[in-house]
Amino acid sequence: MVSSSICMGNGSVVIITGGASGIGLSLGQAVAELGCHVYLIDRQKEVVEEEAKKLRGKSLKVKSIELDVRDREAFITIIKEIHEEEGRIDYLFNNAGVGAGWDVKDDKPEDWDYIIDVNIRGVSNGIHATYPLMVKQGFGHIINTASMAGLVPSSLTVSYAMTKHAVVGLTVSLHGQASIHGVRVSALCPGFVETPILEGGVYGKVDRDKIKKGAKIFNLPGKLTPKELIKRVLPQIKKNKVIIIEPLYMKVYLWLYRFFPNWILGLSRKGWISANRKLKNPLK
Ligand SMILES: NC(=O)c1ccc[n+]([C@@H]2O[C@H](COP(=O)([O-])OP(=O)(O)OC[C@H]3O[C@@H](n4cnc5c(N)ncnc54)[C@H](O)[C@@H]3O)[C@@H](O)[C@H]2O)c1
Repeated sequence: MVSSSICMGNGSVVIITGGASGIGLSLGQAVAELGCHVYLIDRQKEVVEEEAKKLRGKSLKVKSIELDVRDREAFITIIKEIHEEEGRIDYLFNNAGVGAGWDVKDDKPEDWDYIIDVNIRGVSNGIHATYPLMVKQGFGHIINTASMAGLVPSSLTVSYAMTKHAVVGLTVSLHGQASIHGVRVSALCPGFVETPILEGGVYGKVDRDKIKKGAKIFNLPGKLTPKELIKRVLPQIKKNKVIIIEPLYMKVYLWLYRFFPNWILGLSRKGWISANRKLKNPLK
């Protein structure tokens, strides 16, 4: 039985974009085990259906839906159909995301348009499709996957950091308005998580060669598996935390940035110089 207010359990309706892989897929697995009705949405049609199939034994209802989150009309139609079928939407995870670019002087402006479209417009499309329905029903929780790159400087991923800062800004600003309607909004800000995006992901517009070389040279600190991340994150979502940061040392990093911004900006600058040196790509 579902209650009339937000819960994450038997029969709660949970929609996840980017549900075919990594963080979104782990989330789908976790909430299916809780008995939620799970809607895995992704651009990768076959993969998302394959993954949904594997989860079908775990919950009464697991569906896969093909969608490019950049397509606002399709997003609105899909959410409307789910709401009509279920009579409620408890959680929307705006989680689909991509990486793009490296050295801004070489980046293509159309790749920036692309990352803005997926990482920012994809999230805003999800909000426009779902938020009014949640306001009407008087409950619901939208969780936007941002990143630590949305809270601190990230010299290695400038365009990505731009989009993730926008997602954090959007989330924390909407929070106050939404709470008046009984709707919750959170930003998920993970550090490094072992998923395909770290190597460019299926739809990333990145220099894969450089990323491959980089992966061999740099040992990204404190990487979590998606499963570990979700285990830490779900209790915080239940507690309605607005900004969710994992792992813990990233909170310390944010705290240092807030109190000593110039020091952290200096470290970020040195990180960029050292990354280029190690990749034998001397800065011109
Ligand atoms: N892995 C990390 O270290 C890390 C850290 C912080 C934040 N994030 C964020 O977590 C989210 C999930 O990424 P992940 O790490 O699981 O990577 P991932 O590449 O495993 O998953 C991303 C998913 O998004 C889907 N996708 C991409 N573009 C889409 C589009 N236009 N429409 C619909 N689906 C689309 C992909 O098909 C893929 O299934 C992203 O927003 C990412 O920016 C990841």
